[in-house]
Amino acid sequence: MKGLVLAGGKGTRLRPLTHTMPKQLIPVANKPILDYVMDHMRQAHITSIGIVVSPGTGHYIKEALDNTCADLDITYILQEKPLGLAHAVQVSHEFLGDDPFLMFLGDNLIKHGIKECIELFNTSKSDAVIMLKEVEDARMFGVADIDETGNIKQLVEKPPDPPSNLAVVGVYVFSPMIHQAIAKIQPSQRGELEITDAIQKMMTMGYSVRSFQLNGWWLDTGKKSDLLEANRVILDELSTSKIEGTIDTKSTIKGNVYIEAGATIHRTDIQGPAIIGSKTVVEDTNIGPYTSVGNSCSIKHSEILNSVVLNDVLIHNISPMQDSIIGNNATIRQKTSTHESIEFMVGDNTEVDL
Ligand code: TTP
Repeated sequence: MKGLVLAGGKGTRLRPLTHTMPKQLIPVANKPILDYVMDHMRQAHITSIGIVVSPGTGHYIKEALDNTCADLDITYILQEKPLGLAHAVQVSHEFLGDDPFLMFLGDNLIKHGIKECIELFNTSKSDAVIMLKEVEDARMFGVADIDETGNIKQLVEKPPDPPSNLAVVGVYVFSPMIHQAIAKIQPSQRGELEITDAIQKMMTMGYSVRSFQLNGWWLDTGKKSDLLEANRVILDELSTSKIEGTIDTKSTIKGNVYIEAGATIHRTDIQGPAIIGSKTVVEDTNIGPYTSVGNSCSIKHSEILNSVVLNDVLIHNISPMQDSIIGNNATIRQKTSTHESIEFMVGDNTEVDL
């Protein structure tokens, strides 16, 4: 079985960060989202993987995966325009050939379930297995209507009156029959070739489409609040503290905290779960729960809660900052401390003087 990871798209909901980096490379608990996806591929023993990229950001993805995925056989597939998930499959047809494949949206995170999903595809001899997850309010998602045996009867996009509470997760297993279905669909009203339309077409063509229900967490990191939630969920999985950096005696660490090698912590209280990247210096600061600070940052006289700070960031005299995402190489500093809570979404290379 081959793998297909969709890492193109526009990422408009995560601007300004996505002006300078693809959203699939934004770190969650200091590890790029795409690396979690590639870990799933490895665990499922899928080594031949196509990565769909866009012209603007493909080189960033390649550079990142050259470092972390040298053990995998990766083919980069250029999608000139983000014309939909089914379009991404269409441009990958030559790479996929007549092989079945696991398709994974490169901005989705799941706890586990890939192996079971592939097993179901193999044992049920179906033409597609669609991963579903029970959600409270399905109106924001693609929703599946299934029969009592788990076959999918219908898929609907963002229905005002959902037929079930089963949302479509961004993970699918397809037989090569999907290509025939894609060839028969037309772009939707928003001008995209929709994968839900292609799956619906498979069903009308008489192919069997089964569902697999995920019981672990599923996180779609499309927007800021989702990313912060993903960061919280993954930090919550830290089961112990790991201190590889240096901490002075005037600092305190509570809860599960990971201080990476080369980080230095002075006169600072850290309440986990939290992670501090390598070569970062933190002084006279409170780091609150659910905070990830990247590498080579300088944090002084500040308080940071529930936030994701990327690499090479300077934060001085900001107290408290919460629910924020700070891009690479950004500078945020304040001359006098106001003690009013501040919330940011700051792109790469930005300077904020308060
Ligand atoms: P989306 O989140 O649906 O789209 P997007 O990335 O363009 O984001 P936004 O809505 O904020 O503008 O995409 C889901 C995943 O699929 C994501 O990893 C990008 C990828 N994708 C492609 O590779 N090609 C495409 O044509 C589309 C639409 C998405």
